[in-house]
Amino acid sequence: MQYGETIHDPAAAEQERRYWSRFDPAILERNPQTREKFREFFESIIGPRRPARVLDLGCGTGLYHPILAPMVGQLVGMDRSLAMLRRAEQLSKDYNLGTELVHGDAQRLPFPDGAFDLVIAYDVLHHVPDIGAAAEEIRRVLMPGGRFVAAETTMLSPWVLAYNLFHRDEWGLLRIRPGLLRRAFRGFAQFRLRPDNTRFFSHSPLLERIFGLMDRYVLRGPLKMISTRYVIEAHVAPLDAMN
Ligand SMILES: C[S@@+](CC[C@H](N)C(=O)[O-])C[C@H]1O[C@@H](n2cnc3c(N)ncnc32)[C@H](O)[C@@H]1O
Repeated sequence: MQYGETIHDPAAAEQERRYWSRFDPAILERNPQTREKFREFFESIIGPRRPARVLDLGCGTGLYHPILAPMVGQLVGMDRSLAMLRRAEQLSKDYNLGTELVHGDAQRLPFPDGAFDLVIAYDVLHHVPDIGAAAEEIRRVLMPGGRFVAAETTMLSPWVLAYNLFHRDEWGLLRIRPGLLRRAFRGFAQFRLRPDNTRFFSHSPLLERIFGLMDRYVLRGPLKMISTRYVIEAHVAPLDAMN
């Protein structure tokens, strides 16, 4: 593992304590439905062309790396939390994934310009104090024609709002609005934000039924904006467009 500058980070330590079960790398072993949903999600992000070098920004324990790593050339996981990275390192050994794991901050990425063709950030941006600074860093480390894809839960969803109001370290989500994201990513050639309602982690059968009915009858038209997350896609201009 490569070590960055911040060694003790109280916010990261608190997050580890509260959310360990959500990040347990064994989740995919125990839950084939979650595994399949992550597979579909990453397949849809990656598309038909296998990217050579991919950064998973804020990778946490890398719980989905056994799915993602075989889809790409070299997977690099980066996080500000050493404890999370240690779990990701163990997972990489257990599954022989060959993931490179790097300690660092999204606002100051420890990579050279143009190092990646794809950067992914799943459930991360709302934890970053200066999203605009992170967006500029992501743009810098992407090669011409490179892509950034992020999944970000949205507080417009009544379910998410109700849950996260009781989790103080998730209040960063209150900042996440389409306008803020558009401004943060204005340096990119293209920016797209689409509502998504995939539930990766299954809840009780009753809740699943309620969510299913909402998907069918409520989350249509403009009401799609209250689905559980946004998928953000931003493109760096290809080389020929830059000249
Ligand atoms: C909700 S977790 C998501 C982890 C992983 N992507 C997943 O979905 O399992 C957010 C992660 O972002 C990391 N993180 C928060 N702020 C960060 C920053 N400024 N730079 C790098 N990582 C950060 C946290 O340590 C945590 O592992």
